[in-house]
Amino acid sequence: MQKDFKIAVIISGRGSNMQSLIEQASVYSISGVISNKTKAAGLEFARNAGLPTTACPRKSYSSLLEQKQAIYAATLKYKPDLICLAGYMQIVEEDFVKEQFGRILNIHPSLLPKFPGLDTHKRALNAGETKHGCSVQYLDVGVDTGPIIAQSKVSVESLDTEETLASRVLKQEHQIYPWVVSMIAGEKISLRSGDVVMSKATHKEALEKGFYVPDSVVLN
Ligand code: GRF
Repeated sequence: MQKDFKIAVIISGRGSNMQSLIEQASVYSISGVISNKTKAAGLEFARNAGLPTTACPRKSYSSLLEQKQAIYAATLKYKPDLICLAGYMQIVEEDFVKEQFGRILNIHPSLLPKFPGLDTHKRALNAGETKHGCSVQYLDVGVDTGPIIAQSKVSVESLDTEETLASRVLKQEHQIYPWVVSMIAGEKISLRSGDVVMSKATHKEALEKGFYVPDSVVLN
């Protein structure tokens, strides 16, 4: 177990996933929180938790690319073993994704490969889905196409609105993201040659927690 496993979290807004990563940090620590928005509510929570934060607002840079590069540089300054995107609403530049492949995680509010991109809850309701949920994945250069590590499912109820469904999925996000990060920190989950590899004991634990692990995950 690497007690000194460090993560950096990149956010854009509310930061409730970041908050759950902070609150459930026991086998990893948070070395910094970065945002593309100075007023992101999550930054205040992080500061109050005594964590270093950096904001890189668009207006401080002459181009979007410069802003993103400042965000990546600020992130790497925190020397993370893992970078966790948590409601970060900018597309990550291909060069950075390639350079850091296997070291960036994303949480997405749908059962990927269903509903990549935005408005996932509305689209799941409109499609008449009976199950919806969230996915934790390694980031790759596509939009929400990276290798999936684990998912958490919720039932779609007949009276669900976008808001009720989103809030039920969010509760699952707050459980599954810190768990996956803890397992990576404890070297129970890794990415090898593009495949997610998980120990059998971790797979069992995932199922006990009610999570779903896709067949693409290699068990060892
Ligand atoms: C979450 O639903 C996350 O999956 C998505 O954006 C939302 C961010 O919420 N990418 P928060 O900022 O973590 O509260």
